[in-house]
Amino acid sequence: MNYDNPRLILDSSNPPEPGGITWRSPSNIAIIKYWGKYGVQLPQNPSLSLTLAAACTDTRLEYEMRENTGGIELDFFFHQQPNEAFAAKIKTYLESLVPVFPFLEQLKFTIYSGNSFPHSAGIASSASAMSALALALCSLEDLLFGTLKEPEAFDRKASWLARLGSGSACRSIFPHAAVWGESRFVPGSSNEFAVPVGDRLHELFKDFHDDILIVSADEKAVSSRDGHALMEANPYAATRYEQARTRMGTLLDAMQAGDLGTFGKIAEDEALTLHALMMCSNPSYILMQPGTLAIIDRVRAWRAETGHPVYFTLDAGPNVHLLYPGEIVAEVRGFIEEELTEFCENGHYLQDWVGEGPEEL
Ligand code: PMV
Repeated sequence: MNYDNPRLILDSSNPPEPGGITWRSPSNIAIIKYWGKYGVQLPQNPSLSLTLAAACTDTRLEYEMRENTGGIELDFFFHQQPNEAFAAKIKTYLESLVPVFPFLEQLKFTIYSGNSFPHSAGIASSASAMSALALALCSLEDLLFGTLKEPEAFDRKASWLARLGSGSACRSIFPHAAVWGESRFVPGSSNEFAVPVGDRLHELFKDFHDDILIVSADEKAVSSRDGHALMEANPYAATRYEQARTRMGTLLDAMQAGDLGTFGKIAEDEALTLHALMMCSNPSYILMQPGTLAIIDRVRAWRAETGHPVYFTLDAGPNVHLLYPGEIVAEVRGFIEEELTEFCENGHYLQDWVGEGPEEL
């Protein structure tokens, strides 16, 4: 896929009026995890995620024509405050996109971004933030040149752009669920962008919850970027990648049939495998905390006791995601309040669920 397009240049004798575009884009939670990459943000194995709803980023991209050209001109505000660290990252990202969007060097940008969840919640915002920005850039291209009218082409390009900002962000573009990475079980799948698989899921995944138990909101000791890099020398890497490729078929079949037992078994195994890979990296590291393990224990015990289909997964951090169908929301919330919030920082947990994907505001 090559999106380089030297024709996307604005006519300076007929400049566009200043304007703005706003997108709201959600986070996602991987069931089959992406862990290990190569080349330019390409995944070593296919991953599948559920698109969330409550944890999201709103990004407003304002633009106006400028006199000079060359380089990116950007002011960046996070929750109304100038943020130099984020500004530098976004600037580097936009610079890398100049061959794709040459008009980026003809405009001056102001970006206002904010998350629906507290900054200190220990929830990674890169998926929601980078997907929101990628969507805004695609809308801008279409507004200025009328070249992205076709929704499928629009989403694909947005997913491709989001991937370059943060790998897993490419999956947030689509409603309900998405697969990123070549898989023999998903026609049209690619390492360069995600594809929607929501239409292959049983109805129960349209009313499906992911409550996030905040064991710690601290910044993690080893970043995802370093974690991916450590997979290169991980002795189990090849076996792991093959496992993910194979179980994609099993997971999709289970999700289509509404077989929550198989879904949950894979979800939990993926979470523990992700953390096992960290523990046998060189140097090794552990991101789970005592509270993480206590919650996992209680979830398994409660499931055995009640027979309720509630399963856990983990991201690259200590916080625990509880996955369960909408019909048992009252029971699960009661269980969380009674047995799990004691392991959460300040008793804090976030309620989230499978959502309809990003929207332009
Ligand atoms: O997108 P990154 O580079 O932050 O990596 C995300 C990795 C996991 O969250 C652990 C798994 C995934 O597929 O989202």
